[in-house]
Formats: sequence, C-alpha cells, structure tokens
Amino acid sequence: MRIGVLTSGGDCPGLNAVIRSVVHRAVTEHDDTVIGVQDGFLGLIEGRARPLALDAVTGILTRGGTVLGSARVARERMREAVAGAEQLAAAIGIDALIAIGGEGTLTAARMFSEAGLPVVAVPKTIDNDIDATDVTFGHDTAVSVATEAIDRLKTTAESHQRVMVVELMGRHTGWITLHAGMAGGAHGILIPERPFDVETVCCMVEERFSRGKKFAIVAVAEGAQPAPGTMRFAHGGTDAFGHQTFGGIGSRLAGEIAQWINKESKPVILGHIQRGGTPTAQDRVLATRFGWHAVEAVHKGAYGHMTALRGTEIHLVPIAEAVAQLKRVPEDRWTEAEAVL
Ligand code: F6P
Repeated sequence: MRIGVLTSGGDCPGLNAVIRSVVHRAVTEHDDTVIGVQDGFLGLIEGRARPLALDAVTGILTRGGTVLGSARVARERMREAVAGAEQLAAAIGIDALIAIGGEGTLTAARMFSEAGLPVVAVPKTIDNDIDATDVTFGHDTAVSVATEAIDRLKTTAESHQRVMVVELMGRHTGWITLHAGMAGGAHGILIPERPFDVETVCCMVEERFSRGKKFAIVAVAEGAQPAPGTMRFAHGGTDAFGHQTFGGIGSRLAGEIAQWINKESKPVILGHIQRGGTPTAQDRVLATRFGWHAVEAVHKGAYGHMTALRGTEIHLVPIAEAVAQLKRVPEDRWTEAEAVL
C-alpha cells in the first residue's frame, strides 16, 4: 500500500515519534510505501509530498516539532479541498492517509473520510482536551515544562517576597494548569472551567503573607475567565483561521494582586516553550504506540477511526466521537486539586 502521513495544526512534542513509528511498522511489517505530506492538509491540497524510507526517520524520536511541518488552513479552503478529496489523494499517489492532529485536524480528517478519502487519525495536543482518549501525547511534556517553570519561579519569588502569576497554555480547558499547578505546588490554580473571583484570589495571597509565608505562586490558564460581575476582562479577537485568541489574563491578574496587597506581583507567560523541545519518555511511548496502531488500522480498513488510549490499551474509536465535545476538567478532579492549594 501507499500510505500518506501528515501532521496538522499546532505542533506538539511526540509528532516525530508517531511518524517514525508509522514508517517502521508500515515498511518493515507490511512492505508499504510511506509518503510524507508536507505542512499538513495544506501540503495535501498543494500536492507537496515525498517518500519516507527508514533512513528518513533515523534520529527523529527525540526531536520536538515535526519533520513534516505543519500549517493551518482557512475553513473555506478546507471545504473546497474536501470536495476534491479523492483527486488530491490520487495526485500524490496514496491509498490511505494517517492524519495526526488536534481538534481541528480531527474535524478535517472526518470530513475527508466522509468524502471518500480513507483516513485514520491520531490525536495530539498538549492541551489534553480530546474527549475520546484518556490522554494525548504532548501533554506530559507540556506539564513537565510548566512544572519546572513553577519550581524555578518559587525560589526566585521567595528570595524577593514576590507573587508570581504564571500563565500557561489551555484555551478552553485547564488540564495543563491543573496538573502543573498540582505538581508544582501552586497556591492558586485558575482554569477556564471555573470562572474565578479576583477578590478571592487576592485574599488567598494576602492571607499567605499574613501567615509569614514569603511568596505565592498563582497558575492561570490562558483561557481562564473572571466570574461575571467581578474583574472586567475580555479575551482577544479571532485569528486568521477563525480561532479565538487568548493571552493577557496573567498580566492583568498580576496587576490586580499587586494593587490589592501592595507587594510586587509579576506575570510570567510561558507560551510556546510548553510546546517545544524533546518529548518526555511517556509521550514518546504513547506516540510510538499510536503510530503502530494507526498502521494496523489502515490495514484493517478501519477508516474514519482514531487511535485512543483507554486505560492501558489502545483502541480505535470513530473520529466523530472524538470531536463531539471537548474533554474539560470535571468537578471531581478539581476537588482533588483544591485540597492541596
Ligand atoms: O492547542 C494547542 C495550543 O498550544 C494551545 O494551548 C494554544 O492556545 C494554542 O495552541 C496556540 O496556538 P498558536 O500556535 O497558533 O499560537
């Protein structure tokens, strides 16, 4: 068979581990030819692809990013492309496609699949917000990076008796902030799922200092929102691809805390550092397993399906199930975290 593979949407540590695994399994077990499509669906639309032999994936397991490149495609252009799905596949000579990506990519993969292109999807995102899988690769790396940042901020905050407000990624869900906040022992954890009251946050910080504590760390997800009727704050507009933009909540909150308690309060925006660099061992293992199962899914003809981790096993689930809703932090997970704040 000739199997195309592409990475689409925001990058994430572990993408190269999936690509490597796909090539190894497809070439050595099935004698397939793997075609690497450049820059996600944009490369498919523009017919930019190259064969990936075993040599092409040597040494990429530990590398962050994606050797295939990634890009976002405007919705209208994607819809037009879907209408010509089979011709696009024929143009680069593939019988099936493995699409690795997050929510947007999975939606596109589903559309291409319904339009007759045989697609198997592999979920990725540092945000861990894809509902049909227990976890996505990339998340563990992002949490490790964010936790290390909190650890480092603690020592400098204590030296200077400061408050540090660390803004972490997560537009609609607070998984990175919840997990890094718990692992790093943050004193406040603010996530999109639970609108916060700025007064409560300021009082918590004030109370810490009044108990003789010398610093405070507040971890806030970029998409966290003040509760209605509290601090006024509006998130940004929309980007060129129609996605809502975020950013600014950390700086705004640090300013509010500084005014309230009359102590230095500094925002730290970790941003894309959470997405770059080498994946953790856990992410490499999950990515490698997903790659293996994606190739097997192609050979079983399980098109329109996605690899998913359920417990310790990898399952195939309909892509439609994965894009029906986002996986948000549930109340009980928040309750566990709250106990150690
Ligand atoms: O979805 C992954 C993610 O890293 C989000 O956490 C973040 O808000 C967004 O992508 C950033 O996207 P971009 O790379 O377009 O700035």
